[in-house]
Amino acid sequence: MVRKKLVVGNWKMNGSRAQNDVLLSALKEEGRDVAVEVVVCPPYPYLGQVGQALEGTWIALGAQNISSFNAGAYTGEVSASMLVDLGCAWVIVGHSERRSLFGETNEVVAVKVRAALEAGLNPIVCVGETLGQREDGKAEAVVGEQIDSVVSALGQDGAAKLTVAYEPVWAIGTGRVALPEQAQAMHRFIRARLDLAGVAAEGVRILYGGSVTAENAPLLFVQPDIDGALVGGASLVAPGFLGICRAASSMAA
Ligand code: PGA
Repeated sequence: MVRKKLVVGNWKMNGSRAQNDVLLSALKEEGRDVAVEVVVCPPYPYLGQVGQALEGTWIALGAQNISSFNAGAYTGEVSASMLVDLGCAWVIVGHSERRSLFGETNEVVAVKVRAALEAGLNPIVCVGETLGQREDGKAEAVVGEQIDSVVSALGQDGAAKLTVAYEPVWAIGTGRVALPEQAQAMHRFIRARLDLAGVAAEGVRILYGGSVTAENAPLLFVQPDIDGALVGGASLVAPGFLGICRAASSMAA
């Protein structure tokens, strides 16, 4: 099965209206040759601005988080239907920063993923082990459990609609990218785990995230089970992000 490559920029808590304008103009003007699916995920307050700027372009809009709840007295939360209303097609769920800093458990992540799918959003579910877990030989056990809990909440058909992002925590924002073979081995493991659960895993895109740059992206994208990238730091600088997009374009089927 041929899976189309996907590149997602996670801006995290960065940007301002002025900075976003500069970045988006550069992406639109300099990225006309990019022929791959690309998403950018700005902070909530800028979704409207970025969505408007991207209308009719080759870049789609995503959010970085979503509420578990649909509507009502949940101060500070943003629902799936609000994201759809603002033009989002994608949402990142269960990023390791959400898990470690904001207490999101596998159960919470599963509920959020279900809320996203029910609203018609494409969820990107993040999984990954810490350095300690890898050193203890527990990387596959941890990632396997993260995958299983989402699959059991969604069922086989729901899980087939997921995009997974494998982001080893030790590689996020550290400049220490996983070796291509290391990443490929975990991506293969994730696909096998989905398959074992009866999910149509060959069609599920599995992105790699963690210190991806324009320089290391080609070595990652050439791996058979790496279907694109979730990019943090490098997505904030137009030439770097476009370099990653071009690396994916050149390998797109
Ligand atoms: P990084 O972040 O590319 O800055 O390592 C990736 C992520 O957290 O999604």
